[in-house]
Amino acid sequence: MFHNGQRNDIASIAALAAEHDVAVVVDSMQSIGLVPLDVHTLGITALASGSHKGLLTPQGLGFMWTAQPVSALPPTYVANAGIGNARADLVATTDPIKLRPNAHRFEIGNFNIAAIHALGAALDLLDAVGITTIEEHTQTLGDQLIAGLDDLGVDLVGPREPEHRAPHIYVIALTDPALPVYFSERGVRLSPVRDGLRISLGMYSTSDDIDQFLSHLTRALETVSTSEVA
Ligand SMILES: Cc1ncc(COP(=O)(O)O)c(C=O)c1O
Repeated sequence: MFHNGQRNDIASIAALAAEHDVAVVVDSMQSIGLVPLDVHTLGITALASGSHKGLLTPQGLGFMWTAQPVSALPPTYVANAGIGNARADLVATTDPIKLRPNAHRFEIGNFNIAAIHALGAALDLLDAVGITTIEEHTQTLGDQLIAGLDDLGVDLVGPREPEHRAPHIYVIALTDPALPVYFSERGVRLSPVRDGLRISLGMYSTSDDIDQFLSHLTRALETVSTSEVA
């Protein structure tokens, strides 16, 4: 999804992995909050994500879901917050460490309280709007974007078919490094990725945004080096 906007068929990947007894850990950073995701039906081992994209919070907060109880998982780093037998006065002891039995064992310090509150509000908002509604919205905007790109003769790096493409991520096959600069000077933020320029849409994106992007792109193709244009 990150480099080309492809929608991965996680359930079929997990089914294949299960045949070979391979664990599947999903990084859902690009899709959470934007595409319906049900960890209970995907057959995956674990899913991890930050919350600063589709979950609408500031950076610095993430979470993990595991199919098995976390008590079987040792954390890479251990901090006071993860220790079950830590002293209340925080004085270190030589007693063997007992990790907390739950997800607290992964905490490594103070909490990002502002982001946690923001996440609560964001989840209420996303629930009220509905993830399927958000997916349909970005997919419709994606159709508009693809039609405009076709008119300009600009290719997509990833798949076009709705069942294979992420509804909200479109990578256009233009790699001229002048283009992101051109767009950012006009208030449009695009991410250069491996094979092109990534356009990311969200619940707040509008049809007018797509029109504005396409008219900037039309002018960019006239003024910036066109050697990359298909
Ligand atoms: C696919 C993917 N994974 C993970 C992250 C974030 O990772 P971290 O917050 O650990 O830097 C991003 C971007 O923020 C991403 O696009």
